[in-house]
Amino acid sequence: MSKTATALDVTSLTKVFHERGNKSVKAVDNVSFHVRQGEVLGLLGPNGAGKTTTIKCILGLMRPNAGDIKVFGESVEAHYPRILKNMSAVLEGSRNLYWRLTVWENILFFAGLHGVTSRDNKAHFEHLVRLFSLEDKRDVEVRKLSQGMKQKTSVVCALARRTPLVFLDEPTLGLDVETSLELRAVLKQMASEENRTIIVSSHNMDVIQDVCKRVIILSQGRIVADDHVSDLVSLFETKAYRITLLEPVPEGLQEALASRFRGATVTGDGTTTEVKVNLLENDDIYVLMDILRDRGAIIDEISHEETDLEKAFLEIVRRERNNHESR
Ligand SMILES: Nc1ncnc2c1ncn2[C@@H]1O[C@H](COP(=O)(O)OP(=O)(O)OP(=O)(O)O)[C@@H](O)[C@H]1O
Ligand SMILES: [Mg+2]
Repeated sequence: MSKTATALDVTSLTKVFHERGNKSVKAVDNVSFHVRQGEVLGLLGPNGAGKTTTIKCILGLMRPNAGDIKVFGESVEAHYPRILKNMSAVLEGSRNLYWRLTVWENILFFAGLHGVTSRDNKAHFEHLVRLFSLEDKRDVEVRKLSQGMKQKTSVVCALARRTPLVFLDEPTLGLDVETSLELRAVLKQMASEENRTIIVSSHNMDVIQDVCKRVIILSQGRIVADDHVSDLVSLFETKAYRITLLEPVPEGLQEALASRFRGATVTGDGTTTEVKVNLLENDDIYVLMDILRDRGAIIDEISHEETDLEKAFLEIVRRERNNHESR
């Protein structure tokens, strides 16, 4: 298969939950997206946005009310359950392990279910166990593991099958910092070296920003953004600078800045001064420096407020909520 083959096509997916007595919830509302093979896609959205429901529909664990889902060009509905050989998943807070089996037995069991035998894959299984530092716990029953170790075992069982398409719903939940970093590295490596397609949902923006090139943001069941991480971030990039001076407010500084930069603020506490400026043009920084130098300002610190995925995400979701409320 070529690198540009489509791994997943989701078209007009809709899932409505009806609850007795209550009004129905449109958990997924006409969602369409396509994922290329080898892509690592991040699925973001506030609680209840529809991420898990979308993933469950793709895996055939829930039946959508409308829409079409294709995995490597084949309809999930028409080819169920055979189509599952292409997909593995770790679902949020899942208990998808046998608690009375050991870590190793769970791996053998879940891989074996799909015809992945330890005879051919022992080295791969051992590699995963090492990668997640579970060597000591290999022969321990899962019920005796810590929460993070259970989570790691779930991830290992999902990866052991080497499916071309992998879904990870909140995979780093409960993982310690080191393991979370290791998992990120493994995911990136799986995508780049093995051309596997990974769809990962997380509330941890560092994880998403690190492993995903592209993200889809869901809000109230609808897609509100589908873009490269870097483009989303630059969309909300501001050139806000904060300068601290080691002196009371220099004379004339406020006026000079105000005449050149709209909304610039200068505040002093008698011994230090804080200047906040939003720069719009590329050479504004030089103008700013000239104004400061002309007044002999003693600069202590200059900082640039960075925009990251988290800021972009919060802004997109906030705007979407406002739009929704005003409709
Ligand atoms: N089995 C269910 N029965 C009824 N309603 C459900 C069911 N599963 C999900 N929902 C509702 O569907 C909506 C979407 O839920 P979903 O679990 O997909 O959100 P999510 O984006 O995964 O959120 P989170 O970040 O909290 O995991 C929510 O309003 C939720 O209450
Ligand atoms: Mg969820």
